[in-house]
Amino acid sequence: MARSEIYLDHAATTPVHPEVMPRMLPYFGYHYGNPHSIHGLGKRARIALERARAQVAGLIGASSHEIIFTSGGTEADNLAIQGVARGLSHKGRHIITSSVEHHAVLNTCAFLETSGFEVSYLGVDGQGRVDPAAVERAIRGDTILISVMHANNEVGTIEPIEEIGRIARRRGVLLHTDAVQSAGKIPIDVESLQVDLLSLAAHKLYGPKGVGALYVRSGVKLAPLVFGGGHEQGLRAGTENICAIVGFGQACTVAGRDLQRNLLHVKDLRDTLESMILERIPGAVVNGSRETRLPHVLSVTFEGLEAESIVVGLDAAGIYASAGAACTSASVTASHVLTAMGIPEHQAFGTLRLSLGFENTAEEMMHTVEVLEATVSGLRAFYDGAPEAQGVFLFPQDHQASTAAALLKGQGMAAILAATPGHLRSNGISLHCLLVGISEKEPAAEALRAAGIEIDSVHEIRGINRPLLGKTMLDKAQTFWDHLGPHGKDKDA
Ligand SMILES: Cc1ncc(COP(=O)(O)O)c(C=O)c1O
Repeated sequence: MARSEIYLDHAATTPVHPEVMPRMLPYFGYHYGNPHSIHGLGKRARIALERARAQVAGLIGASSHEIIFTSGGTEADNLAIQGVARGLSHKGRHIITSSVEHHAVLNTCAFLETSGFEVSYLGVDGQGRVDPAAVERAIRGDTILISVMHANNEVGTIEPIEEIGRIARRRGVLLHTDAVQSAGKIPIDVESLQVDLLSLAAHKLYGPKGVGALYVRSGVKLAPLVFGGGHEQGLRAGTENICAIVGFGQACTVAGRDLQRNLLHVKDLRDTLESMILERIPGAVVNGSRETRLPHVLSVTFEGLEAESIVVGLDAAGIYASAGAACTSASVTASHVLTAMGIPEHQAFGTLRLSLGFENTAEEMMHTVEVLEATVSGLRAFYDGAPEAQGVFLFPQDHQASTAAALLKGQGMAAILAATPGHLRSNGISLHCLLVGISEKEPAAEALRAAGIEIDSVHEIRGINRPLLGKTMLDKAQTFWDHLGPHGKDKDA
C-alpha cells in the first residue's frame, strides 16, 4: 500500500503479514507435491500441511486432529451448521441462532428452513449482546445446535460464549461459534469457551484469503458438504490448498505470539480515535458494548448523513473504512445488526465502521480525525445549504470525481463527493459521484470541461437535501436512478 494511504478496514480483511508470505512462496514453487502422494515431494507437502494444522490448533487451544481446513469463514460456518443439521436430523430439526450473525450463518439457517428445519433467531440488547438466559429458554427437546458468534463484525461486541457454552453442555446441545473476527485479536480457548465447533478465516488475521478452518471437537459427528476423495477426515474432499494453508498456519503462530502486545496497542489507538471523534464531531454516537468489545473495532453513527458518502470522502483522502449499511447491486438496506440492536434505520444509514490493525499509528489516527471532521462538516454544510435539487456528475474514474470537487471548490462552488446509490452499481462496486446545487450544474459542467476533466454523464436529483434523512433520502435517490436504467460501467474497467 502506498505510504499516504491509511487502512482502517481490518474487519473486512487484513494485509498478509510480512512474516507470512515468505513461508508461502516455496509451496508455489519447488514444494509443489500433493500432500497425499507417498513419495518424497508429497511427504514434504504433507509435513507442511500437518505443521500448519498444529499451528492453527495452537491459537485456539485445540488438538491438531480437530482442525478441518476449508476455503474460509463462510465455508466453515456452512460445514458446521449444515454438517450438524444433516448429521443429526434423526435427533431433531431445531436450531438456535442470533439475529446479529454474519450472513454466512443467517443464510445457511434460512436455507435449512426451506428443507424442514426450524430456526429460532434470538434478539439482542442495545449493545448487540445475546442473553444466555434467552438461549436456555429457546432450547427444546428437538434442538440439535446453537450457533452464536464469538464477536460481531460490525460493532465488535463480544458475546457471552462461555456462559452459553455452559448451558449448551448442561442441556446436551452442540454449540458452534463464528470466531472469524475475534481469532488472533483476543485470546480464545475452546476448552474454556466450551464450544464444539468454531469457525476461523485466515484473511482476518494477516493470513491469505480463501482459506479458513472449522474446529470440530473430538467425537462430534458431522455430515460433509463436499464429497470426493475423503480428505480432511472425509469432511472436506479435495486436495488441500497447501500454499494458503501454510500461510494460515504461520499467521496463527504470529498472531498468538504478538496477541497481547497488539491487543494493547490497537485498543489504545481505537480508544484515542473514539474520544477524538466524540470530542470534535458534534452528534457522533458510538455503537456496541463499551466493556466487552473487540479492541480494534469502532462503529460510529453520524445521524442525518449517509455513511457511504463519508466513506467516499475518506477514500478521496486515501483513508479506507466501511459503511454500516449493506449494499447490494440492487438496493441499499440498513444493517441487520444495527437494526437488531434497536438503532433506527435513518441512524443505521449514517453508521461508519473503522477497524484498526497493529500496523496503524497514532499519527494516522490524528490525520483520520481531521479528515473525518472535515468530511462530515462538509457534507452537513452542503445538505444544510443546498437547494431542493442537485446536479449529479458521474465520472469514468473515481479519482476524477475528487479532482472535479477540488476544482469546483477552488472556484467557489459548493460541491461534495458522494456515493452512487446501490442500484447503479455494477457487481456491488460503488462509483464516486459529485453533487452541486442545481443552479451550479451548468457552470460546473462548463468549468469541468474547460479543465479537461472527462464527465461520464450529468443528471439532476430532487429532494435529497436537509429535511430528508436516511431511508427517505435513499428512497428518493433510488426512484431517480430507477428511471435512469443501468449505468453499465464498472469503476475498475
Ligand atoms: C463474522 C464473520 N463470519 C464469517 C465471515 C466470512 O468469512 P470469509 O470471508 O472468509 O468467507 C466474515 C467475513 O467478513 C465475518 O466477519
